[in-house]
Amino acid sequence: MTDVSHEEPWPPSVERRDFLYVATGMMGAVGAAAALWPFIDAMNPSADMQAIANVEVDLAPIEPGQRITVTWRGQPIFIDRRTPERIAEAKADDDAPDLRDPATDASRVQREEWLIVVGICTHLGCVPDGQMPGGRRGDWNGWFCPCHGSHYDTSGRIRKGPAPRNLVVPPYAIVNETTVRIG
Ligand code: FES
Repeated sequence: MTDVSHEEPWPPSVERRDFLYVATGMMGAVGAAAALWPFIDAMNPSADMQAIANVEVDLAPIEPGQRITVTWRGQPIFIDRRTPERIAEAKADDDAPDLRDPATDASRVQREEWLIVVGICTHLGCVPDGQMPGGRRGDWNGWFCPCHGSHYDTSGRIRKGPAPRNLVVPPYAIVNETTVRIG
């Protein structure tokens, strides 16, 4: 499970959790992969890499409206527990004419409450703002890339600025009500 780094007793305050940068528990995964090496190696040359490529995240501490960032394969992954208002905004724009990279909100989520995207701007790779409380979320309440002014909506779709594509949805699976596995 994910090892959440923090400097105060768990659970932390809502304010603190809003900008937690969650570590990945990768060390434990690496150890498990090393112990299983002969078996895994016999099955598939790349299976050892797959064994350390998954990150499980505990969703239970995340409150509605809260966003956290975890790392997966060295990339920031934005997890947004969307409120009904943010979900409604995303759905209402499914047919908006300004969608540069058209996609319905439903096609970008497995459960509409949880939006999970790679937090890397599709223009030149900056990390968009909007994860931290009070951060800039752009004109569509999503994320704003400060490098050259790209605006993403509450589905992570590009709406304005130079970025050519929506924020990427990584491969993931909802393991149970409180756990997601990324990778
Ligand atoms: Fe995000 Fe250029 S890198 S707008």
